[in-house]
Amino acid sequence: MDKKTVEDIDVKGKRVLVRVDFNVPLARGEVADDTRIRAALPTIRYLLNQGAAVILISHLGRPKGEVREDLRMDPVARRLSELLGQEVVKVDDSTGPEVKAAAARLNSGQVLLLENLRFHKEERENDPAFAAELAALAKIYVNDAFGAAHRAHASVSGVPAYLPAVGGFLMEKELNFLGAALERPEHPFVAILGGAKISDKIGVVENLLSKVDALLIGGGMANTFLKAQGYEVGESLVEEESLPLAREIVAKAGKRLVLPNDVVVADAFQAQARAKTVSVDEVPPGWRILDIGPQTVRLFGERLALAKTVVWNGPMGVFEFPRFAQGTVAIAQKLAQIEALTIIGGGDTAAAVRQTGLADKMSHISTGGGACLEFLKGKTLPGVAALEDK
Ligand code: 3PG
Repeated sequence: MDKKTVEDIDVKGKRVLVRVDFNVPLARGEVADDTRIRAALPTIRYLLNQGAAVILISHLGRPKGEVREDLRMDPVARRLSELLGQEVVKVDDSTGPEVKAAAARLNSGQVLLLENLRFHKEERENDPAFAAELAALAKIYVNDAFGAAHRAHASVSGVPAYLPAVGGFLMEKELNFLGAALERPEHPFVAILGGAKISDKIGVVENLLSKVDALLIGGGMANTFLKAQGYEVGESLVEEESLPLAREIVAKAGKRLVLPNDVVVADAFQAQARAKTVSVDEVPPGWRILDIGPQTVRLFGERLALAKTVVWNGPMGVFEFPRFAQGTVAIAQKLAQIEALTIIGGGDTAAAVRQTGLADKMSHISTGGGACLEFLKGKTLPGVAALEDK
């Protein structure tokens, strides 16, 4: 990464404001998946060991500028304290006198977690006064929130205007892996895209097509491409307005675009729906495509077997329903077997890979969902742009 990191700056005896992405799933008032908290531990531990006092800031959910009891950071503080094996002081706001006092009391080696930043609408509005108030709590700013780096919010791109701003280890790792794949991939470079909609991923398709040797498309977004090629897809999810664009992409990509040749169809969008595997030209009227079929898995597998770099974003089917998860599971298994740099782009795909138990066989699973997509589109992330160059 060409940005400064925590290793390029002296933090001893200083208060350091660390933007983390602790936007984690909660269930019954506790953290249901602590992956993102664990991912920030190397930076937090490093700063503590260097003698810094660490003030952590994050958003949680989308409370839209209102205090929501169910989106307080208390469960995150409890989990973080368990993982660090030390007390995490938690305050009930992210600005104001109580916060200032807590920050002033904080000693080297101690951790303070502020309340959900999005309880203030000023966070999303990137309000300069709000950013300045956060910045006034510390002497140095660290951004380790790769997952939020695509948001030009106060804690992401506002605070760096007031403090020396560097990246944390997670930020560095994410940018190094994603950068290695996109900027200097070893070929053959194969991208796999899935998920529901092509409209969300048009920018990704366009950017990747200029770089990859093959683009494998599954999931709901494949339906629009199939329909664009003249196949009848029954009741499958199709974005009619994206059909002309899909035709353009098919023409431009030529043989590099690989679409399913068989699919698993269902008579309803339900976990227990009747299901069968058919060729793409045999989707029965009234049925819908919910997964890729075994021939497609073989076809995709042949491309993946040769790959040296693979980026995967978006499940191959409705993997939340076990009956329609097989395509996604099979692709995860292929990736686990090959000798390549394998990068899993956040969100649903990361969850699917974890469900298969193959997470540790991948080179990198991004903690970013939207941030990862923006990166794959070739966009500069505001949270990265705001950091000091090396
Ligand atoms: C994420 O979960 O992708 C990040 O935390 C960003 O959350 P947001 O989409 O609500 O900004």
